[in-house]
Parts: sequence; structure tokens; C-alpha cells
Amino acid sequence: MNTTTTPNKPKILVARAIFPEALAELEQSFDVISNQADVVMTPQALQEQLGKVSAALVTGSERIDANALAKAKNLKIVANISVGYNNFDVPAISAAGIMATNTPDVLTDTTADFGFALIMATARRVTESERWIRDGHWNQWSIVTNPLGMDIHHSTLGIIGMGRIGQGIAKRALGFGMKVIYHNRSRLPEADEKACNARYVDKETLLKEADHVILVLPYSAENHHTIGAKEIALMKPTATLVNIARGGIVDDVALAAALKAKTIFAAGLDVFEGEPTVHPDLLKLSNVVLAPHIASATEKTRRAMVSLAIENVKAALAGAKPPSLINADALGK
Ligand code: DGY
Repeated sequence: MNTTTTPNKPKILVARAIFPEALAELEQSFDVISNQADVVMTPQALQEQLGKVSAALVTGSERIDANALAKAKNLKIVANISVGYNNFDVPAISAAGIMATNTPDVLTDTTADFGFALIMATARRVTESERWIRDGHWNQWSIVTNPLGMDIHHSTLGIIGMGRIGQGIAKRALGFGMKVIYHNRSRLPEADEKACNARYVDKETLLKEADHVILVLPYSAENHHTIGAKEIALMKPTATLVNIARGGIVDDVALAAALKAKTIFAAGLDVFEGEPTVHPDLLKLSNVVLAPHIASATEKTRRAMVSLAIENVKAALAGAKPPSLINADALGK
């Protein structure tokens, strides 16, 4: 950890490496404890650092709960550099009177693009085909035995979780002439359904009818294992399943078993239970495309996410309401 000390400037923690220009911007206004070496902090180290600062920029690798906040007497804000905030125990943060923020909107299109990329890579066996070439199999090319995939165009896309990113994926599907069905905690207003040309169905119908299922819902205890063995058994044997939501939404063990038994065609995963560890059964399978949680990972978008997190911190420390405050109600703001 590196520290720049200037008297009278509030002290802040930047828990993971950020772009050097963003760090330089922060150093103009704050005493910054930075972690450009990008080594994930232990819970104890995080607790110690949070005890020294007025604000913290964090990511999914930092769990912010009562334990992390035990020494955080001056902390005013924890600013997540991500839209998902399942690394936050929001009630514990609110109970400590601390503001919690995330980075919505700035990553919607980039993440929707990647969701679509993963649907396509999974159905058309892109990574498996690349390995096939690298392993020297191209001389076995054949009309019937090449890696044969499933069509995207004019197929049925089932989206579970129809927030901003889900709707972005639905709009991209329009260009492929796909039929879009969705399931969500609550049904969208009619105008939004029309804009996406999407039909609301229950989860069971979606799993039975969709050729490609994509998960874009936030993680919560009640969404844990939204897709397990029972749900996978409802899917078509030709169907694909893509998870860009969060690990834990899918039961990875049940999924690996289904992929091994080929009860569904293939899966594409950007998120995993227990990441950065990937279940060893998934690593052995060829009908799964694996990505290291990169749905929002373009330079432009990651810069925008960091900028929004900085904006949130600056607002909070200036006594204003941060633009993307999660716990406004709990804090009466
Ligand atoms: C998010 O912002 O929640 C993404 O998962 C991070 O890439």
C-alpha cells in the first residue's frame, strides 16, 4: 500500500489499482492510500485501512460488512467501482451511518454487448473452435463433424432479469430477428416491453421455450441458485445458458453435471461461484465458454466507472448527496 500525506486533506483508500490519471486526480484533493500493486487485501488489512480513512473506493473483491467496518470511525462513504453490490452488506453499512454507492448506467451498453458476445460465442462454439485449430485438427474439417453450433437468428432468447442491461440485450436481439421472452421480479411498463419487443413469462415457461437463456439479475440471498438442477432439467437439450449476472445465481456443480451429460447444449459463464476460483468440473468441459468477469471491461467503460466512483466520493466528502447513492432511504437522504 502506498500513502501520500498532505496535511488537512481527507484521507481516502483506493482498495485496488485504478488508472494512473484517476489516482493523480484523487491525489489533488485527498491523502490517498493506494494499492497500485493490486494485491487483494485480507479482511483484517481491509478493516485496518478502513479505520484510517473518510472514504473508500472498493470493488467486488472487498467485502464491506460489520466486521470490515469495525474500526471505521470516520468513514463517510464506500464507493463500489461496479454496478452490482453484493459485496456490500447494505444494512450493516447503513447502520454505521455510511453512504454506499455503485456505478450504474455507465456500463449498461458495454455489458449488454458482452452478454450478446457470450450468447454468440457459446451457441457457435467459438472458443472450442479456436482450440480445435490450435490443437492441429483443421485437417479433419468436414461438413458434418466440424464444431456445429446452434443458430442465434430467429431463435427465442429468454432473459432473466430485465433491468437496464437485460433491456439492452433485448434491443440487440431485435437486430437478429429473435423472439424475446423475459422474466423479472416485476413486469416492465408496457412502453418498455414494446421498445424491447419482449413478452413477460413465468420462469418455468421461459426455461422451457427459450433457445438461449441469459441471466442478468442482481445477486441476493433469495436469488441464490435461481438456476439449479431442477431448472436446467426444464431447458431444451439444444439450449444454451449464459450467466453474466453473479456467481451463486447458478449452481455451478449442477450446471457442470448437465453439460457433461449434454442435457443442455452449452453454457457461457462470465461469473462463478467462489470466483476467482472456477469449479474444476467446468474447466474439464469443452461445451462451456469461460470468461474472467469481463462484461464491463472496455477501457472507456472502466474509466467511466472509476470516474463515477470518484464523483460519488467527492460529493459525499463535500457534504452533498452522491449521484448514485444506494442507501439514500436508510440514511434519510
Ligand atoms: C458490475 O459492475 O457489477 C460488473 O459485474 C463488474 O464488471
